[in-house]
Amino acid sequence: MKISSICCLGAGYVGGPTMAMIAAKCPDIQVTVCDMNQQRIDAWNSDELPVYEPGLDEVVASARGRNLHFSTDIRSAIAAADLIFVSVGTPTKTYGIGAGRAADLRYIEAAARLIAEVSHGHKIIVEKSTIPVKTASAIKTIIAANSTSGATFEVLSNPEFLAEGTAVADLENPDRILIGGETTPGGQIAVEALVSVYARWVPRERIVTTNLWSSELSKLVANAFLAQRISSINSISALCEATGADVDEVARAIGMDSRIGPKFLKASVGFGGSCFQKDILNLVYLCESFNLPHVSEYWRQVVHLNDWQKSRFVEKIVRTLFNTVNNKRIAILGFAFKKDTNDTRESPAIHVCRDLLREHAQLAIYDPRVEPELIRKDLAEAGVSAKLIEANVEILDDPYAAVKNAHALATLTEWDEFKTLDLPRIHRLMLKPAFVFDGRDVLPTAELEALGFDSFIIGKGQ
Ligand code: UDX
Ligand code: ADP
Repeated sequence: MKISSICCLGAGYVGGPTMAMIAAKCPDIQVTVCDMNQQRIDAWNSDELPVYEPGLDEVVASARGRNLHFSTDIRSAIAAADLIFVSVGTPTKTYGIGAGRAADLRYIEAAARLIAEVSHGHKIIVEKSTIPVKTASAIKTIIAANSTSGATFEVLSNPEFLAEGTAVADLENPDRILIGGETTPGGQIAVEALVSVYARWVPRERIVTTNLWSSELSKLVANAFLAQRISSINSISALCEATGADVDEVARAIGMDSRIGPKFLKASVGFGGSCFQKDILNLVYLCESFNLPHVSEYWRQVVHLNDWQKSRFVEKIVRTLFNTVNNKRIAILGFAFKKDTNDTRESPAIHVCRDLLREHAQLAIYDPRVEPELIRKDLAEAGVSAKLIEANVEILDDPYAAVKNAHALATLTEWDEFKTLDLPRIHRLMLKPAFVFDGRDVLPTAELEALGFDSFIIGKGQ
């Protein structure tokens, strides 16, 4: 089966960049990315893409208008497609059964119903969104019950492993592509059709095919293992601070063991992002559903430790500032959940800022990419009142303006530009003692010390 037309439902952080790369690598395939959010589609069609990713502008420019299209006409795009990626959001449920743990699948279900309604002929449906195991079976059931045109369908799982900030490099040169499908002849033909799309630029040996459930579960497990490494090193960061050890030295020493490996051992104020917490909670819920309480409790600890890491950072600030931050100006450098993205979903900065505001601090926030409106929205959704945001949060477009007359500065994202800040100038601008809380170990430690800052760096014993 040859694929000549692809459509993707959902023009978000995953759908947009992934489809742009497929279009760039497969000029003979028409790729249409759809979303009901007109503003998002307009942005994808403009010079100001809705997603900030290094290198993405060039990839989009190379294909847009040729074989890459962004549209709100979802029905026409589905009707024309041989293969439909479903890349809609799957947030954590906030209500009812499984609240706070289970994935909310209403967008997936709506997408499946629409596909059933609009489709004719044969379609391959590909789950791209991260979803709980067995969602493929739910999609199949919904489609079978709602399709009246005699159309036929195969459902595949093809989870996305790109990380934000490095999405273009990850898509261009992935560690692996995972495709899960049914073991029936029809299922295998569909798997091969999707393999042939990726094989245009990904070496065959890196394209792994499995059954549907292994593929769905692997995505959750990959994220759980990655997050577990961060919680493990963060737990050790607290011990390093208590004992005088240095967490980077420990990470280097253990990472040289080839069985452990050096990556993902950077201690931080906590992990964020749309995937890690959500996927672990999903895994926890799955284990609960299958009556495996020991397994669910084991993974839940990864999230608990992460919450504790964020809380203890705030506590460190409050205790160091003589047990009160009431009315004290604290400069917050970085709000995104990691560098090189404008995404703030589950960013540790939200938790830290919320708790500092509860202590009545005055925050002066600077982030090079995050929109001020998004920062206000995140804080409001985290439970900070509009009145408090209005009175106690200032968002600035210059780090030096943020630190002016500040009692303390806290780095919460590891933006490269923070490595070369003019620290003597910052020291002059701040009140004394000038306290620094480096939650990302991004500032030059020796220079901080030489200039007379009173600094705390995550995982570094004094
Ligand atoms: C993650 C997975 O890496 C990716 O494979 C999956 O597809 C989606 O989820 P992402 O959330 O975009 O990607 O970024 P990632 O680089 O994994 O970072 C997640 C969080 O962990 C960030 O807040 C980051 O700052 C933090 N982190 C990462 C650390 O604190 N220490 C580390 O050593 C690595
Ligand atoms: P991700 O990080 O997984 O890409 P996002 O929340 O950034 O998630 O993007 C998901 C997108 O999917 C949103 O822009 C939302 O409007 C869109 N969406 C949700 N349901 C549908 C649907 N049925 N058809 C098309 N787009 C949809």
